[in-house]
Amino acid sequence: MTNDAASPTGALTFPPGFLWGAATAAYQVEGAAHEGGRTDSIWDTFARIPGAVLDAHDGEVACDQYHRVPQDVALMRDLHLGSYRFSTSWSRVRPDGGPVNQTGVDYYSRLVDELLGAGLKPWLTLYHWDLPQALEDLGGWTNRDTAYRFAEYAVGLHEALGDRVDVWTTLNEPWCSSFLSYTAGAHAPGRQSPADGLAAAHHLLLGHGLAINELRSRAPLANLGITLNLDVSDPVDPADPGDVEAARLLDGQFNRIFLDPILRGQYPADVLADVAPFGLETHIKDGDLAIISAKIDSLGVNYYRGQAASGRPAPGDPAGEAPVVRPTSSPFPAADGAFSHARGLPTTAMGWEVQPEGLTRLLVRLQQEYTGPAGVALYVTENGAAYDDVPDATGFVQDDDRLDYLDQHLRAVHDAVTQGVDIRGYFVWSLLDNFEWAWGYHQRFGIVRVDFDTLVRTPKASGRWYADVARTNTVPA
Ligand code: NOJ
Repeated sequence: MTNDAASPTGALTFPPGFLWGAATAAYQVEGAAHEGGRTDSIWDTFARIPGAVLDAHDGEVACDQYHRVPQDVALMRDLHLGSYRFSTSWSRVRPDGGPVNQTGVDYYSRLVDELLGAGLKPWLTLYHWDLPQALEDLGGWTNRDTAYRFAEYAVGLHEALGDRVDVWTTLNEPWCSSFLSYTAGAHAPGRQSPADGLAAAHHLLLGHGLAINELRSRAPLANLGITLNLDVSDPVDPADPGDVEAARLLDGQFNRIFLDPILRGQYPADVLADVAPFGLETHIKDGDLAIISAKIDSLGVNYYRGQAASGRPAPGDPAGEAPVVRPTSSPFPAADGAFSHARGLPTTAMGWEVQPEGLTRLLVRLQQEYTGPAGVALYVTENGAAYDDVPDATGFVQDDDRLDYLDQHLRAVHDAVTQGVDIRGYFVWSLLDNFEWAWGYHQRFGIVRVDFDTLVRTPKASGRWYADVARTNTVPA
């Protein structure tokens, strides 16, 4: 086992009660895209655009979890998971964004009951990128009204599941559902406008705050939060002012544009100045920031990679957020002259740099600057890696690369625990190989292999290893 030089070695035991889980998202695993009353989401529509998704893959069948809940929950139990982080499909629960669809709610009710029966904690995410297409037709997240519709959606689901689900995450990675989706055009709905990305970001934040307030009034004791994908971009050369400025720009338009409104009740002044030409401030109404900064209990952190920031373009930049199957623009509304560089560290099949030590630094920073002062607990809600898996004749994958990646990142989390960070759980991305957005089924993140011809599931070596970690609360030597 090769460990990052900065990480502790030997067996590492986590604090008692540390939550071990695995994560997925509705569009990526459910399939049954037009069953039980579900209507199109923006991902159904986007996947039909020629060139939007590699090889025109889509989520029509995905892992077919919709029809395989008992089997998948039994698998989770065999893997000794303490929690399953899943998302609900808005267009299943409220087709076209309209009234609650009982068949859709019943599906999630069965999933929750199955999880509880197997001793797993359901960790529910309300929005993992699949806006009903009918709401996109009304402007999507650029329309302020969508934030209010989102809060209604949260309420309807809470009425059905609130007696059994006590962890509610509003949004998964709003950076992706705003800037990657409305500015870069790499994700659904595929718009390419800096102004639209900023409007979407603000309205996503507003929807988050409105939903938190609704949920809090109904469930004062629930664990309520949001999940952000946060970036650790170091200046390529800390002595180069252009690289330092690039790191500031990326930190501002990746991290602080979400962290500050949620945890400090204001947008950062430097970011407001940077994006001033694109009208963010025209969307901020009186009282919005008080809503957006509604008290949360937990912040979910999704971390996959490190990178370095420079004022100069990287030679042949390999690390994209999406495959280059259709033209996309930069997701950053106003980061002209800021570029992400890879540093020659090992990379995953996504081309993402493996930098576990960045996770420790991120968690320590969050605790010091944001979550500690706000009394908010941290969870790693996603971490994992895609590699080019090679199954044997039985479908088993000896994925030492993924196992090593997980080992290194868990050591990095433990390092943060040792430094006093209030971090209470870790979810591997992903339970299953699944639909990896614009990459289709070409990138596999699962600790369980899915054969997409037969839909047979086979735990990989990393899955067996992770099951032992979860069972013993210990990363082995
Ligand atoms: C983050 C997203 O939440 C998830 O949907 C995606 O599959 C993983 N990153 C891997 O890219």
